[in-house]
Amino acid sequence: MIRKAVIPVAGLGSRMLPLTRALPKEMLPIGDRPVIEHTVRELVESGIEEITIVTSSRKHLIQQHFAPDDDLERQLRASGKPELADAVHELAALAHITYVFQNGPYGNGTPVLNAARVIGDEPFMVLWADDVFVAEVPRAGQLKAAYEDMRAPVLALMPMELQDAPRYGVPIVTRDLGQGRLRISGLVEKPSPEQAPSRFAAIGGYVITPGVVAELEARTRRWRQRPDGEIYLTEALHAYALGHEVYGQVIDGTWWDTGSPLSYLKAQFAAALAHPVYGPELRKLAHDSGGSPAGP
Ligand code: G1P
Repeated sequence: MIRKAVIPVAGLGSRMLPLTRALPKEMLPIGDRPVIEHTVRELVESGIEEITIVTSSRKHLIQQHFAPDDDLERQLRASGKPELADAVHELAALAHITYVFQNGPYGNGTPVLNAARVIGDEPFMVLWADDVFVAEVPRAGQLKAAYEDMRAPVLALMPMELQDAPRYGVPIVTRDLGQGRLRISGLVEKPSPEQAPSRFAAIGGYVITPGVVAELEARTRRWRQRPDGEIYLTEALHAYALGHEVYGQVIDGTWWDTGSPLSYLKAQFAAALAHPVYGPELRKLAHDSGGSPAGP
């Protein structure tokens, strides 16, 4: 059973500067909610309500977004806006969120290890907040189902063009098990297109087991002896996969990478057009201005 998830958010968001100078990239809106709220809702819809957000002192707005605010709720109710009060209440009641400050070597393995120390000895999910999915069954639900069948670490995968390989972790696929499930024997981080071992990208969703955490621990111990390296989840997963079962789950859904300016704007644009309430009007605007709603 997967009951817990980790969302690392301490990264600087430097690809999105200066937009992310004051506003955490996880607080940028996609449609009418911030990126991080999409991730939290995806987990809750998949039955995972115990969420650890690994954060930094620059990112207090994330905590503020999910914090209860009885005063605000009271004021909204007193001024005849019960639906807004309910929305504030619902957000604060959405999940059990705990916050841990990222502390340790550079690299995306560190927040996973920080959270693992709080979570203890059980498998958990890790989602990078950069990758937003629109899917009938949420990405987290698809990953959870794969873990429940395979009882081994699982990575969320999407098909990619080979030219994109230098941006992603790329799995070494040894067997296609059907239904988007792949047996994988390792992962290569950001290979050149010529060296990419498959046409799949790891896209920021993982079920991690205590065995993978042990690999991260081992790397951190070595780092203490020679503190010049970086600790990456991909390396720990690769090392684990050399001797144990690891699987990939190709996610059925639409993927929006929100981590670069162009992909973020595309995601924002697509989400606006697909909005259940505002979408029709925005599609009309896009149509009337020749496909460019921001045009003069
Ligand atoms: C990280 C991972 C990489 C993965 C990517 C997905 O890279 O290291 O394996 O494919 O996230 O978004 P980053 O984008 O942080 O450089």
